[in-house]
Amino acid sequence: MRRKLVAANWKMNGDDALTETYLLAQNKLEASPCDVLICPPATLLRSLSETFRNTNILVGGQNCHHEADGAFTGEISASHLRQCGASHVILGHSERRLGQGEDSHTVARKVRRAREVGLDIILCIGETFQQRESGLALDTLEGQLVRSLPSEQVRPESLTIAYEPVWAIGTGHAASSNDIVEVHSFLRQKCVELLGGVGGKDVRLLYGGSMNPGNAAKILALPDVDGGLIGGASLNPGSFARIAAASGGRSH
Ligand code: 13P
Repeated sequence: MRRKLVAANWKMNGDDALTETYLLAQNKLEASPCDVLICPPATLLRSLSETFRNTNILVGGQNCHHEADGAFTGEISASHLRQCGASHVILGHSERRLGQGEDSHTVARKVRRAREVGLDIILCIGETFQQRESGLALDTLEGQLVRSLPSEQVRPESLTIAYEPVWAIGTGHAASSNDIVEVHSFLRQKCVELLGGVGGKDVRLLYGGSMNPGNAAKILALPDVDGGLIGGASLNPGSFARIAAASGGRSH
């Protein structure tokens, strides 16, 4: 049985005021039946992790560099995230793959760096609308998954894969249940092939893309959906808490 994870990706949004409103929702978040993770912009990471220090609410980064340190102006390292109290890091988000030209090979190097300092990984993969329309969704996802993992095996309990169809992100149109079930069972099979029967079943598979309090219960009850990665709806802690409350806690 996998414990579900509901994670907030604030992206380049939020400020001290949002941290304050999250604090007001602390009791609700702590009562969630699943793990709860908040990934704010890097500048807010330390204050958020201090705010939630003695709680079961986790905080994480949205990206890190693939080198441990060095002359990389403007970048942030995995150990910087760790020092700010992060337990997780989101890697390979489509907004970085498409917007910042990040390829899977670079993502794999980031995964390795993050694991070296003990960060758990939320590895994002997702096909574009064109790739889906051309019947290439599963091939695209498999390619991204295989190439975004380093050659040495990542401990399955420290790995979460987030399926985020690019066309569903921020559009208000979540993928259909049929599409999610098809992709998640495919990804489960691929995880078993890559990490073995036991390990492959320990990896959590999240869905992300226009999840909100209205559709969360339905999506989070689908087979092999072990949680959600929430963008827009996480900018309202009440909405985010309702999604976490709808998660059902564990997947079979
Ligand atoms: P939305 O929930 O805003 O569609 O964003 C999803 C996402 O990209 C989370 O990483």
